[in-house]
Amino acid sequence: MTRRVRAQPKVLVIDDEPDLLELLELTLSRMGLDTERASTVAEAIALLDRESFDLCLTDMRLPDGEGLRVVEHINQHGLDVPVAVITAFGSAENAVAALKAGAFDYLAKPVALEQLRALVKQALKVPDKPAGATPGATQLLGESAAIVNVRGLIERLARSQAPVFVNGESGSGKELAARMIHHGGPRASQPFVAVNCGAIPEQLMESEFFGYRKGAFTGADADRDGFFQAANGGTLFLDEVADLPLAMQVKLLRAIQEKKVRKVGSTAEEPVDVRIISATHKKLPALVESGAFRQDLFYRLHVIELAMPPLREMQEDIPSIANAILARLARGQPARLEPDAVAALERYAFPGNVRELENILERGLSLAADPQHISAADLHLTPDADEEDAAMPPGDKWPLQDYLDRVERQAINEALEKTRFNRTAAAKLLGITFRAMRYRMERLGIK
Ligand SMILES: Nc1ncnc2c1ncn2[C@@H]1O[C@H](COP(=O)(O)OP(=O)(O)OP(=O)(O)O)[C@@H](O)[C@H]1O
Ligand SMILES: [Mg+2]
Repeated sequence: MTRRVRAQPKVLVIDDEPDLLELLELTLSRMGLDTERASTVAEAIALLDRESFDLCLTDMRLPDGEGLRVVEHINQHGLDVPVAVITAFGSAENAVAALKAGAFDYLAKPVALEQLRALVKQALKVPDKPAGATPGATQLLGESAAIVNVRGLIERLARSQAPVFVNGESGSGKELAARMIHHGGPRASQPFVAVNCGAIPEQLMESEFFGYRKGAFTGADADRDGFFQAANGGTLFLDEVADLPLAMQVKLLRAIQEKKVRKVGSTAEEPVDVRIISATHKKLPALVESGAFRQDLFYRLHVIELAMPPLREMQEDIPSIANAILARLARGQPARLEPDAVAALERYAFPGNVRELENILERGLSLAADPQHISAADLHLTPDADEEDAAMPPGDKWPLQDYLDRVERQAINEALEKTRFNRTAAAKLLGITFRAMRYRMERLGIK
């Protein structure tokens, strides 16, 4: 059983009011969800045809037409995404029309956040797709020594209950490894709860992790479980664990040591039985050294380390992994890489590892005129970083702040492009938190 509490599920939000968009995005990101936005029917349809989403929320009145058209598009094309509409206050006919057209629910403006959260939870609980048809990979592919080694270790770790610390570059399969450890072990029938520690606002951390009692703070209108209770009996995956603020690190250490948690606003502790797997792409020992990560927590989490090899260390596997991923993305339709495409992939450095390979192939598949002949040009691999460095003349480095801003803007724009303007993924690629990303984009005036 897998509960998806992390940034993995992706929600398409369609609205042309910036304020409402912002509110929806903020709420969804606090629930650990990725969002993409569109502000017109046309944009939304283009995105839906290009990417897969776990949920779609659309306003009914959009500049180029009715949100209803999005609902109709999804249903006419058999897209596997639940869609809900946001209707203007008092327009019940609209809501009924949307439900008839295939929307699973609606929200009336002004949007009540509690309702929004309930709707999202309900939509994402839509039963897990049967195994085999799952879009994501369930196994680490590759036959090179590095990955064979990792698979062997995962098998052994699955049988143990010891905390595992997964380290590796962005996109190298850390989460997939954590899921395999969970699913290969005695806790497989219990929940796997993945938490993106970098995506939770600091003020909400304690209540998100440990739950809260009714009345603990304004808005706490009922008791609520936290991640620990949700994972009870199963595995709690602490993703991006290096992003935990120090104050939370103390509380987490205590919970892990005592195997007990206390809800915010409660005096009683409750026992919890969770296996902890943690992951980060950062160098945790260096953060311990600099005082940003507590040494005692580090030792608790770091009982066994699983190091994920970067894709460039699995060079010989690139063609076979690319073909396997392409076959999965093509969903049974014939698709094939031309030899020049394979050669280009073999030469490419993959700073974003297998995730980047997946993105490149997804793009290639949608851009190629004929998916049976995907060429190197269809893959749009970015040129070497040093070529781009050379493009900036050294005399351009004064004044310093302008120069730094240009470099930063360029890095952010590249990361955004690479992740199709998914800010959460772009932040990961850049190795900064989502909040830091937002701040920097705002400062540099990147829309
Ligand atoms: N060896 C592999 N074989 C097949 N698929 C893989 C492999 N490694 C990673 N993937 C796929 O690549 C994508 C990224 O993997 P995952 O999310 O586990 O990476 P990650 O290390 O957690 O990345 P990040 O640091 O960005 O969170 C997933 O879709 C995963 O299924
Ligand atoms: Mg991850």
